[in-house]
Amino acid sequence: NEGALWGGRFAGGPSPELQALSRSTHFDWQLALYDIRGSHAHAAALEAAGYLTADEAARMHAGLDALAEGVRSGRLRPRDADEDVHGALETALLEEVGAELGGRLRAGRSRNDQIATLIRLFLIDHAGVIARELVQLIDALVAQADAHPSAILPGRTHLQHAQPVLLAHHLQAHGWPLVRDLERLRDWRGRAGVSPYGGGALAGSTLGLDPALVARELGLDRPAENSMDGTAARDVVAEFAYIAAQIGIDLSRMAEEIILWNTREFGFVTLDDGYSTGSSIMPQKKNPDIAELARGKSGRLIGNLSGLLATLKALPLAYNRDLQEDKEPVFDSVATLEVLLPAFTGMVATLRFDTERMASLAPQGFSLATDVAEWLVTQRVPFRDAHEISGALVRACEERGIGLEDATDELLAEVSEHLTPAVREVLSIEGSVASRAGVGGTAPERVAEQRAELVARTQAV
Ligand code: ARG
Repeated sequence: NEGALWGGRFAGGPSPELQALSRSTHFDWQLALYDIRGSHAHAAALEAAGYLTADEAARMHAGLDALAEGVRSGRLRPRDADEDVHGALETALLEEVGAELGGRLRAGRSRNDQIATLIRLFLIDHAGVIARELVQLIDALVAQADAHPSAILPGRTHLQHAQPVLLAHHLQAHGWPLVRDLERLRDWRGRAGVSPYGGGALAGSTLGLDPALVARELGLDRPAENSMDGTAARDVVAEFAYIAAQIGIDLSRMAEEIILWNTREFGFVTLDDGYSTGSSIMPQKKNPDIAELARGKSGRLIGNLSGLLATLKALPLAYNRDLQEDKEPVFDSVATLEVLLPAFTGMVATLRFDTERMASLAPQGFSLATDVAEWLVTQRVPFRDAHEISGALVRACEERGIGLEDATDELLAEVSEHLTPAVREVLSIEGSVASRAGVGGTAPERVAEQRAELVARTQAV
C-alpha cells in the first residue's frame, strides 16, 4: 500500500474494488490549496509546541509552498493510488522534503478534523463570490427600475390582472429576496468561522497543540468547542446548500415571469440577442434559455440539499465515511450558482421593456375596482357595502362590454347613489398608483424610498 496514510496493521493492500469505491481525488482535489493552508497552520502549531525546530518548520513551509506551486501550475496531480487529497499531498510532501521531516507533519491531526475544516474554508471563499454576484444582480434590477421610473405593469395575483403597479416596484420586489439571501450568507458566515482543526479523529490530541493558533492562521474566528461535534457535524454544509437552493428558487420565480413576459401573448419584454438562443429547426425562434436553465437548475440545487440532508440523517457520532458524500452536492451547488448568476444578471440588465404595451394592458380586467371600493370608503360607505357596489359596477360594465372608466354618469347612478361622477378621480391608472401611498406601496415616492432602503441593505452586507 505504497504511499497510503495507513497500512501498518494490514497484512495485505486494499483490493482494486475498494480503491475504486473509496477514491475521492476526482472531486476533493478542489480542496488541495486549502489542505496546504491547513498544513502551514498545523506546522506553525507543531513548532510552537516544540515538535518542530525553527529550521524544520522553515523547511516544512518551503516544501508546502512548492506543493502549492505545483497544484496551481497543474504539475502536481493526484495519482491513481491516492485515496484522497490528504494522502496525495502527503506523498508529494515526503518527496519534496524527505520522509524524516515530511513524516512529522501528521502528528496531532486526522483527516477527520482536516476535512471538516477545509470544507468550511472552501465554502467561505465561495460564499464571497456568490455574494458579489448577487449584488450585481440586485444592481441590475435597480438599474432597470431606475430606467423606467413611471412605467406601469399590470400587477397580478393568481396570475390574473389584480391592480396596476409601477414596474420599478415589481422589479425591486425581486431584489428583496436576494437581499435576504445576502443576509443569510452573512449570518451563515458567523457559524462557519469555527475551526475543527486539532480535534483529531474525534477525541482531541495528547500533544498539547494550540487550536486557537491554527484557527487564527486560517482566518477563522475560533476553534470548535467540542472535538466530536467539530469532526462530525455538517449542518454548516447543509445550511450553505439550503441558501444556495433558496437563491435558485428566488431566481426561478423571476425566470418564470421573464419566460411569460417574453411570449407573444404578453409581449412585455424582448431579450437581447447575446442572452437568448435560437432553434436548430425553426429559423424565427428566439428562446429564453437562460431563464429556463435557471428554472431547471433550481431543481438541481434543491436536489443537492435534500441529498445532503438524507446523508446526514441518523448518522451516529462521530466521523463516518458517509460524510465524504457531503462534498459533491455542495461543490455542485457552488459551481451551478457561479455559472448561473452572471448569465442571469446579463439577461436582466439587457431586457428591453415594451412599456406602452404594459400600460395599455394595465386597466384591463377591471383592475381599478379596488380603487372604486376604497374611494367609497372615503365617502363613508362601509367597506362591505363598498365592495358590493364596486362589484356590481364591474358586472354592469362587463355586460355592456366597457371598462370602468367608460361608465356614464347614468350608469354609475343606476348602480348606486354613492357612485357620483367624482369617483372618476380614481379611475386612472396613474391616479390609482399614486394613491397607494402607504408604507411599502406602489406610489412613486414610496417606491423611491424602497429603492434607497434596498440599496442600503445591499451595501450593508
Ligand atoms: N475523504 C474523507 C471525507 O471527505 C476524509 C477522510 C477521512 N477518512 C477516514 N477514513 N477517516 O470525509
